[in-house]
Amino acid sequence: MTAANLLAATAPERIGFFVAVAMVVAWAVYVFVTSRNSDPDQKPGSEIELAPNRKPYFNDEILEGPRLERALGWGLLLLVVTAIGPLLYWLNEPGRQAGAVDEFDRKAVERGRQLFLPTDSPEHGAHFGCATCHGSKGQGGVAPYSLTDYLGATRKVEWEAPPLDTALLKFDKKELRAILVYGRANTPMPAWGIEGGGPMNDQQIDDLVAYIDSLQISPQKARQRSFQEALTQATIDGKVTDPLNPALAIDGETLFKTNCARCHTKGWAYGEPDVQGGGAFGPNLTNGLTLRQFPDLDAMIEFVTEGSEYGEAYGERGQGGDEGGGMPGFGQVLTAAQIRAIVEYERGLL
Ligand code: HEC
Ligand code: HEC
Repeated sequence: MTAANLLAATAPERIGFFVAVAMVVAWAVYVFVTSRNSDPDQKPGSEIELAPNRKPYFNDEILEGPRLERALGWGLLLLVVTAIGPLLYWLNEPGRQAGAVDEFDRKAVERGRQLFLPTDSPEHGAHFGCATCHGSKGQGGVAPYSLTDYLGATRKVEWEAPPLDTALLKFDKKELRAILVYGRANTPMPAWGIEGGGPMNDQQIDDLVAYIDSLQISPQKARQRSFQEALTQATIDGKVTDPLNPALAIDGETLFKTNCARCHTKGWAYGEPDVQGGGAFGPNLTNGLTLRQFPDLDAMIEFVTEGSEYGEAYGERGQGGDEGGGMPGFGQVLTAAQIRAIVEYERGLL
């Protein structure tokens, strides 16, 4: 590099050049100084006097006596520790793994609970307001809704938002997911998953499923509640003639109202039942239509007990839908006798 070149060079190039020159000079100085100091006759460690940090070591007598045994003893002890230690760790491992899974689930439930809270909740985090319609613990509630009729006029109604603490007794987790992701078209229940056009990602939907799972009551409690609901309905309808024996009044029609009507009777969910119209989210069950679908009574009982499976055939020409979770199964929330009573009532609907 000439002087002219050096002037034309950029700053990093100039710095590089000077660093390279400095390194060459420093290396030359090092070689010069060491070559002058070294004496070819002197081997390392052959100094006349031992440095203060070096002293003669023990002789063989001492080295091979108790000292050796002590060293071997320590060696054996360490060997035992390294041999047994992993074994003890392994014994603890299943418990540790189970604990990790529990903790993972607990966190998912907690995240789901956050998502479930009313949007104006003071708690930290993102809330999507399920609780506003479904109740703070998913026990059910009402949703204000605007209905638009065929002339374009709107009016406000209060739409029944079902309890969620029995959702997994009636739907499986896949169906519950479908309800959350796609919502229920033409009801106040919006779509929540990204695939359905909603705001939540897969993880958030999974967390909500985990939270709803944690809310579930036992089938026994669910049956007790169904019974209470039917009793209330029967009392409203003036069907309870003997309050001491209310079970007699729990008939098919009453049970249909409290369990099936919100999906199968248009307008039932907002207090304007249109029995003649039949069918809302679920298909029309009147006019003998179910007799065509289920000529066999027992097959229909089985269907109502188990519910539908997405994509699977039922009855004569039915196919389980994905949208809205399809037809729920009632085997865990009603008794076999109650289901039979509903089905017998329902087959007589003309
Ligand atoms: C604006 C009110 C509203 C909000 C907010 C809302 N829902 Fe709903 N949800 C409803 C209504 C109303 C229904 C019943 C629709 C019908 O009649 O089929 C429903 C139905 C459901 C069902 C089906 C239950 C069944 O037995 O049929 C589930 C599960 C559900 N909602 C979960 C949720 C979750 C989880 C959230 C929060 C991410 C949520 N909902 C937010 C109003 C709401
Ligand atoms: C959450 C809403 C919902 C509730 C509650 C509900 N169903 Fe259904 N039901 C459906 C849907 C949706 C279908 C259509 C099948 C599918 O998509 O899985 C259906 C289908 C049926 C069918 C077959 C009809 C046909 O012609 O294909 C019968 C019968 C039936 N339900 C009876 C009942 C009875 C009895 C009850 C009460 C014990 C009930 N359902 C409660 C949603 C519901």
